[in-house]
Amino acid sequence: MVRVGIINVTGYMGAEAARLLHGHPEVELTSVTGRSAAGQPLGEVFPHLGPLGLTVEEELGEVDAVVSALPHSASAQALLPYIERGLPVLDLSADFRLRRLEDYEPWYGAHPAPHLLAEAVFGLPELHREEIARSKLVAGPGCHATAAILALAPAVRHGLIEPDMVVDSKTGISGAGRSLGLSYHFSEANEGVSAYGLSGHRQLPEMTQELGALWEAPAPRITFVPHLIPMTRGILVTCYASLRQDADLGKDAVARLRELYCDFYRDSPFVRIVDQPPSTKQTLGCNDCLLYPTVDGRAGRLIVVSVLDNLVKGGAGQGVQCLNLMLGLPETAGLSGLALYP
Ligand SMILES: NC(=O)c1ccc[n+]([C@@H]2O[C@H](COP(=O)([O-])OP(=O)(O)OC[C@H]3O[C@@H](n4cnc5c(N)ncnc54)[C@H](OP(=O)(O)O)[C@@H]3O)[C@@H](O)[C@H]2O)c1
Repeated sequence: MVRVGIINVTGYMGAEAARLLHGHPEVELTSVTGRSAAGQPLGEVFPHLGPLGLTVEEELGEVDAVVSALPHSASAQALLPYIERGLPVLDLSADFRLRRLEDYEPWYGAHPAPHLLAEAVFGLPELHREEIARSKLVAGPGCHATAAILALAPAVRHGLIEPDMVVDSKTGISGAGRSLGLSYHFSEANEGVSAYGLSGHRQLPEMTQELGALWEAPAPRITFVPHLIPMTRGILVTCYASLRQDADLGKDAVARLRELYCDFYRDSPFVRIVDQPPSTKQTLGCNDCLLYPTVDGRAGRLIVVSVLDNLVKGGAGQGVQCLNLMLGLPETAGLSGLALYP
């Protein structure tokens, strides 16, 4: 068994990573840290994690690989000693997602370890499987970014759309983390929907970086607007882009589009092309991303609906998927659970 440690188990992402690793056949979660809970049994902090039998520590014990679920900046700082020791490191924060310092700084401020940006790999296995498997430092992508990039990558790669896209995202409240905030109180959020981040959201540069790399021309223009929905987990992203005049999808454009998407993801066990617009419920607690690509023939536009669980495929599950690749394990190990229903 590979011994894995989680830095900062006390947030949603850390707790979800612990839940998923508990069911992993080839990895043992042996050590967890958490600032506010050091010294306490994990089962006291999170009763559902009691069966792991762990105590929250101040520092990780002896481990073979490290997962960090700290917020950005604190994460890179905490990971530096493990990176320097050459351990496989998976960072779920934004610290190593952006390759260029000039893309990181406007959104997050000074970077604690800019010299490592060039060697980190963006942890989206569907686009970077081989690089992840060769890397010791992988950055778990943002949850909105995962849903949007998976939705648009095949269309961009096949040159079907203009480099001008709209990403409209609806997210559950756990996307904001466990820290308290007025907008996330039940009485503020329940029975309402609100847009946020209209002047710019931190996951936009991830979309531009990754979709831009599939594009021969300059970076695509992307308008990204997230919305807060009163549900606990889940993201539903609807992407829109004008089809290029020379995009030849033939007489049955939707069928051809679906074929291209199925082919693009044929070796990706967690991306499924579905034949009905999916609901976030269909991915609750599991590592799937469901995509529904279609064509609005009247407007000449591509529409893709993408759903996932922000804490699983949008976070800790995708992290385990990357860790599997980094450790030479089957990509699906520990991730075979189906969605909860109803
Ligand atoms: N939520 C999602 O859907 C999601 C998806 C993908 C990626 N992520 C990323 O995962 C990371 C964790 O997100 P989260 O949703 O789990 O957040 P969270 O629930 O708010 O947890 C973050 C925890 O970090 C601790 N913390 C905060 N500042 C710290 C510092 N300077 N030093 C040490 N500990 C500190 C706090 O724990 P204590 O109470 O113990 O102090 C806090 O509870 C973030 O980088 C986020 O961007 C989140």
